[in-house]
Amino acid sequence: MARAYVTRRVHFNAAHRMDNPDKSGDWNRTTFGKCNSPNWHGHNYVLEVTVAGTPDSETGYVMDLSELKQIIQERIIAKCDHSNLNMDVDFLRGVLPSTENLAIAFWQQLEPALPEHSLHVVRLYETERNFVEYRGE
Ligand code: NI
Repeated sequence: MARAYVTRRVHFNAAHRMDNPDKSGDWNRTTFGKCNSPNWHGHNYVLEVTVAGTPDSETGYVMDLSELKQIIQERIIAKCDHSNLNMDVDFLRGVLPSTENLAIAFWQQLEPALPEHSLHVVRLYETERNFVEYRGE
């Protein structure tokens, strides 16, 4: 069966602070640099969500992209856009908001809302040059 990969790209802007409360202030400053800034700082995040499957015989679609758009909007963007990722987002409570941990948390939010086994990869860009992929392993 032919398998195709369909991606939706979205943007959001959010503040975060990388700070491990189990470690000293020095350790946090050295380890996280400007991402440890006590007064927070922002990133222009880009999120790409890829679903995979066999195109439906009647629609030719793996998935209706407007449906994927709506799921990402409700589960991620509505909660994270223009938010403080450390404080404002219910599903990120207690999560150290590295790009890696955010990608994993976003997967966990999206996967149950999508057709079974269809989510292929969550790719999160913290900057144009730095991004993380999570594939559910
Ligand atoms: Ni940062």
